[in-house]
Amino acid sequence: MEYLTSPQEMQYWANEQRRVGRTVAFVPTMGYFHQGHLKLMEYGRSRADRLVVSLFVNPLQFGPGEDFARYPRDEKRDQALAQMAGVDVLFLPAPEDLYPVHFQTYVTVEKVTQGLCGASRPGHFRGVATVVAKLFNLVKPHWAIFGLKDYQQYVVIRQMVRDLNLDLEVVGRPTIRENDGLAMSSRNVYLSPQERGSALSLSAALKTAQERCRAGEHRAAILLDEVVRRISGQPDTRLDYARIVDPETLEGVEFIKDPAVLILAAWVGKTRLIDNGFLGGYPDCPA
Ligand code: PAF
Repeated sequence: MEYLTSPQEMQYWANEQRRVGRTVAFVPTMGYFHQGHLKLMEYGRSRADRLVVSLFVNPLQFGPGEDFARYPRDEKRDQALAQMAGVDVLFLPAPEDLYPVHFQTYVTVEKVTQGLCGASRPGHFRGVATVVAKLFNLVKPHWAIFGLKDYQQYVVIRQMVRDLNLDLEVVGRPTIRENDGLAMSSRNVYLSPQERGSALSLSAALKTAQERCRAGEHRAAILLDEVVRRISGQPDTRLDYARIVDPETLEGVEFIKDPAVLILAAWVGKTRLIDNGFLGGYPDCPA
């Protein structure tokens, strides 16, 4: 595995792959790898001649008072895991290389960033879209692979790629869960044992809504009522939002007749968790 840190080296490597006709898959990450990241890498490995993983905790996507400073980091462990996953290049840029002093260009995706996490975390998706656009220009992948746990992020990136005619395909892959249903996330490490118990209400509520929808309850308000009750009833837990939305536009749906996504975010103690699942007689994941 090669370690690259400078944007210039990364771009040179990418140009070289294109020149000799090799395909490249790319998994952008903020590190602190778990099974979810490793599954994305495994998929990327199987899809292309070369696999690039970036590890960069992007300051631009964290708001004031969010967890940028304490975001979990363990570069040595990540390097070992990436090596075992068959990664060809681990790209570890420094913040000052991606955002030099006079940096002043940002990518704003409009409608699909306005609600849900975009409403609770102003500026977050501008930070995500900007860094991902830069990484795409450096890695020049044929496929960029994202976990569907961050469903809104996936929609935002797909929209950006379409709108800017970026020459790559965005691939969404299923959420990986712990045995008890908790969606894997680097932030799960913040949870105390009691909070972890409360956090299970997110996946449990999603599962119940999926089952009720399959059994014929297609009214969004009824399904959401139970989700709200179930999550808000947990100790130390505050629901941020729970909505049933169109998978493309992220606009609210009142009656589920086409595929829809139940998407939610909740604070458990000081940790903000997100989760989602498909409803409407469709597989839990479109990928
Ligand atoms: O999903 C993440 O880990 C980040 O938002 C991403 C896509 C790597 C951009 O910083």
